[in-house]
Amino acid sequence: MSSIFEEVDGYIANLFGDEDEALRKTMQAIKDEKIPQISVSPNQGKFLQLLAKLCNAKKILEIGTLGGYSTIWMARALPKDGKLISLELDPHHAEVAKRNISYAGLSEIVDIRLGKAIDTLPQLLKEKAGPFDMVFIDADKPPYTEYFEWSLKLSRPGTLIVADNVIRDGKVVLKESPDEMSAGAKRFNEALAANKDVTATIIQTVGTKEHDGMAIAIVK
Ligand code: SAH
Ligand code: DHB
Ligand code: MG
Repeated sequence: MSSIFEEVDGYIANLFGDEDEALRKTMQAIKDEKIPQISVSPNQGKFLQLLAKLCNAKKILEIGTLGGYSTIWMARALPKDGKLISLELDPHHAEVAKRNISYAGLSEIVDIRLGKAIDTLPQLLKEKAGPFDMVFIDADKPPYTEYFEWSLKLSRPGTLIVADNVIRDGKVVLKESPDEMSAGAKRFNEALAANKDVTATIIQTVGTKEHDGMAIAIVK
């Protein structure tokens, strides 16, 4: 039985979703390849695409590629000469993502960097890959605060920084975090709230995925 939240998510997707063959194939490849099914939902993908368009993005940084599902949604907001750099640790995920991105016709725009994000981020700074117009943080949760700090270094005033999974089923409200993922999200949320260089908030999300949230920040 699906909850009212899932039903409404389906209702919104039916009205506004434009998940096409390439995105559906990406989801299927993730299943077939036994990669965790933790991609953003179709409506969240569309939301990220809208945000990318809203900030007129030409350069996007993504931390955590998985199968490239969110990557494809965001890359489609870019102009032909736009660039999306996505950081991924797992070679299998990166390989499947590359295939999906190629099928979507986005290989020219998307550049996947293999390695630990905490090592790749300083490298991006060194090679002057920034400033990015939008950053999407969605890799492992414990170092979210560090990813955010590196994102700031790769930003300019007006850069939009979005971070997925910052509510974790509401576990962030607990004084003692029950796991390292919610602890990472909680530490990040507090650092974000205290940071004077951004204007930020969090949107709670419910639907086909578990109860969670996305933090949204704009660099002053
Ligand atoms: N953005 C994707 C989902 C990302 S899931 C989507 O919505 O479609 C998180 C990804 O981060 C996984 O593929 C995982 O392998 C990767 N990851 C985990 N630890 C990492 C690290 N230290 N550096 C870079 N990527 C990492
Ligand atoms: C997990 C990671 C995600 O990025 C997500 O959107 C949902 C769950 C996880 O690691 O459990
Ligand atoms: Mg996520």
